[in-house]
Amino acid sequence: MHTTVGIIGGGPSGLLLARLLHQAGIASVVLESRERAYVEQRQRAGILEQSTVDALRACGAGKRLDAEGLVHDGIELRFAGRGHRVDFPGLTGGRRVTVYAQTEVVKDLIALQLAEGGPLHFESEVHTVEGIDGERPVIRYTHEGREQTLTCDYVVGCDGFHGVSRHAVPDGAAITYERVYPYSWLGILADAAPDYDELIYAHSDRGFALASMRSPQVSRLYLQVPNGTDPASWSDERIWDELDHRFARGTPLVRGPVTQKSVLPMRSSVTEPMRFGRLFLAGDAAHIVPPTGAKGLNLAAADVVVLARALAHRHATGSPELLDAYSDTCLRRVWRAEHFSYFMTTTLHTDPDQSPFETRLQLSQLERIASSPHAEAELAENYCGLAL
Ligand code: FAD
Ligand code: DHB
Repeated sequence: MHTTVGIIGGGPSGLLLARLLHQAGIASVVLESRERAYVEQRQRAGILEQSTVDALRACGAGKRLDAEGLVHDGIELRFAGRGHRVDFPGLTGGRRVTVYAQTEVVKDLIALQLAEGGPLHFESEVHTVEGIDGERPVIRYTHEGREQTLTCDYVVGCDGFHGVSRHAVPDGAAITYERVYPYSWLGILADAAPDYDELIYAHSDRGFALASMRSPQVSRLYLQVPNGTDPASWSDERIWDELDHRFARGTPLVRGPVTQKSVLPMRSSVTEPMRFGRLFLAGDAAHIVPPTGAKGLNLAAADVVVLARALAHRHATGSPELLDAYSDTCLRRVWRAEHFSYFMTTTLHTDPDQSPFETRLQLSQLERIASSPHAEAELAENYCGLAL
């Protein structure tokens, strides 16, 4: 089998890229190792920047997003027992974010791809990528127990942090910059109507907590926990009690049945460059951020918008100029988001080795955001994201 663009991974980046290429008249094949139901249920991100919403709308995936997405104009920061609201439109010239779960983005893109797009093969696990420094790279994968090959003009690795494509780059041709954090998130989904209108990010002497949502009926909540925590060691009651302690709102959260519970370790990582020969890396395959600040999914979408434009330019004009600029173009946004995610994470979490001096610095920084429109605007601009 041969195609123009072989896409490894059917997560948000692979699916959005396939859709954008389809619109540009460029053939692609998506190879996804897991089954469809698994990919559609995997609980992950929930906040879309304006530019991600715009990209989804422009590619025809905006119908349910517009009907069901919740537009948010701000967040609340809680620290030292009080709250401070950050107003996004007022600080950014009108930008805002939308709460719409990654599961729903993925469902919408899969439905479009199956209805109108090129091949999307589930349960097709890629093992190796060969010949990326030549004209005809080859992807080898297994489907229904049989070894298969896909030759392509270009390969795009959209296979996440644990994928294989990053490892196809020869030793010494790329550098990975990395930081691992000394804490994780315990995340729950609960059938409980959030009694807060906007997300709450809380700094507390018991650690970080975040109140988000998936719909007017479903809460999504996170607690900082030590690395290696077994989610089963946290009873539902203990989770709700701890959330109430850390938010310190005076009124307890509305409680309801916990339908999902998992622990997420945190890491920052960037692989540079994001291109080697005819292999392009996009999304989590190239970079990951700790989740504080909700940048992961948005960066993945931004990468493939840039890449689809570059491939379309090459297709239409024969010029490789935009493809050659792909890595540098993406890395500018990636490093900005890496810094913001690191800043939000280290300002709001308690490092187990943190001294009282460092806690005072965190509180001083939060005070600064709450009292200076300049500091507040810096947070709001980064949170709402750069224009694409
Ligand atoms: P992925 O979503 O990882 O998709 C990669 C796809 O490739 C997967 O479907 C995988 O099955 C497939 N694949 C992997 N290996 C192969 C192979 N060998 N062959 C074929 N297919 C393969 N971000 C936030 O902003 N907020 C959050 O709360 C948040 N929570 C997260 C929780 C978890 C557990 C994780 C891992 C990430 C979370 N993120 C969060 C980050 C965000 O979800 C990611 O940035 C986003 O999923 C990136 O999309 P992607 O398509 O690049 O990668
Ligand atoms: C969510 C995740 C985040 O990392 C974040 O900063 C805000 C919201 C969420 O899953 O809803």
